[in-house]
Amino acid sequence: MDRYQTIIEPFRIHAVEPIRITTREERAAAIETAGRNLFALHADNVLIDLLTDSGTGAMSRDQWAAIQHGDESYAGSPSWFTFLEAVTELWPFRHVIPTHQGRAAEKILFSVIGGAGKVIPNNTHFDTTRANVEATGAEAVDLVIPEGHDPSAIHPFKGNVDVDALEALLTARGADVPVVFVTITNNSGGGQPVSLENLRAVRALCDRFRVPLFLDACRFAENAWFIKTRELGQADRPIPDIVRDMAALADGMTMSAKKDGLANIGGWLAMNDDALADACRNLLILTEGFPTYGGLAGRDLEAIAQGLREVVQEEYLHYRIRSTAYLGDALDVAGVPLVKPFGGHAIYLDARALLPHVPPLQYPGQALAVALYVEGGIRGCEIGTVMFGRHPDGSETPAAMDLVRLAIPRRTYTQSHIDYVIEVVQRVTDRAGELRGLRMIQPEPTSLRHFTARFEPLA
Ligand code: F0G
Repeated sequence: MDRYQTIIEPFRIHAVEPIRITTREERAAAIETAGRNLFALHADNVLIDLLTDSGTGAMSRDQWAAIQHGDESYAGSPSWFTFLEAVTELWPFRHVIPTHQGRAAEKILFSVIGGAGKVIPNNTHFDTTRANVEATGAEAVDLVIPEGHDPSAIHPFKGNVDVDALEALLTARGADVPVVFVTITNNSGGGQPVSLENLRAVRALCDRFRVPLFLDACRFAENAWFIKTRELGQADRPIPDIVRDMAALADGMTMSAKKDGLANIGGWLAMNDDALADACRNLLILTEGFPTYGGLAGRDLEAIAQGLREVVQEEYLHYRIRSTAYLGDALDVAGVPLVKPFGGHAIYLDARALLPHVPPLQYPGQALAVALYVEGGIRGCEIGTVMFGRHPDGSETPAAMDLVRLAIPRRTYTQSHIDYVIEVVQRVTDRAGELRGLRMIQPEPTSLRHFTARFEPLA
């Protein structure tokens, strides 16, 4: 497969969407109107949108065809059975509960098993996962291996759980732990994979302390590809077999089909425990819908079912992981500081290293993200002090890292789009010394401030 350098996209284009070329002056005006917050832009003013890989991918011909099979029966739709079969082919849990997206699955599960006094470990909680745990009064604890906190530490499975730390937590507070979570791949840690060996070790601890193990499996196929290509003895195994191995080690899962479901919306909650499933279904009916559609239309269930068949294909995953690394490799050669090794779905620029003259409380990640937009119409996402710096007690401290995430939507941009991104990032980083920090306009939003805060430039 690697005889040629060029990454062949394993598809050709069937329907095209226009992207609008804007001038630098238009972009400077648009970002000013948006208060220098990229979430507040009109997406028509974005040329290459790398804000997220969630729900932004292109569906295939066969997914659009499947949509025509969508059956909108309120109960027992054939589309539900198609969905159920596709999910359980990879994840043979006894109960599958469809939801409108990943956080709805989290909300339902943690409402049932969370609560004050409980503690839920994870390699690293994604922000909605943490928020849903904390909303019940429970505590969310991140136990990724130490390498997972260091942007430049090289480790093949940098998303692995720190097994000793988990053992210590379970020894001290086992009775308070209703579930152990592992996120595959570890998004908040840079899209880093978790090995089968690590999952087995976590499983063994869960057995010893009689605690169930759940996976946050949004990017499970990308994780399986890393296992296949990096873990001893896995190279010749089909991806679906590796996925089923991960499933066999777990008692349940939450899923956002907006990532490795290759769909624009959807998700599910799955588990083996009958009583837990009953309690979750009761909540589902209150907040999402009847158990055979959850928060979804029949056509969405069909699109996800077909997406699941496509996402485990090796040609697709080979292209996916290589094309993400293509962006990372080019920026690395150009000397841009990055989180390494490259994750599956995104490349993370280390803004703190690139802008050492901008202190963290002047938001170097935000300054860099704004500059990428003004220079070339590229929208990334600050993951740093804007996102994590403000604390419940009102204090503000620098986040662990100041990063800009360039997330790659699935099957959406071609190599020439990415070549353009590389050029723009280089041009901005060449004059990084000229970039100035930002001040957040007060009063700032009271929660999740990164979505709505407004900024002004410092002199
Ligand atoms: N878990 C992980 C690891 C995620 O990355 C996300 C979403 C969710 C859960 C929630 O799923 O959006 O369907 O409710 N991540 C997106 C991102 C939003 O940009 O990384 P959702």
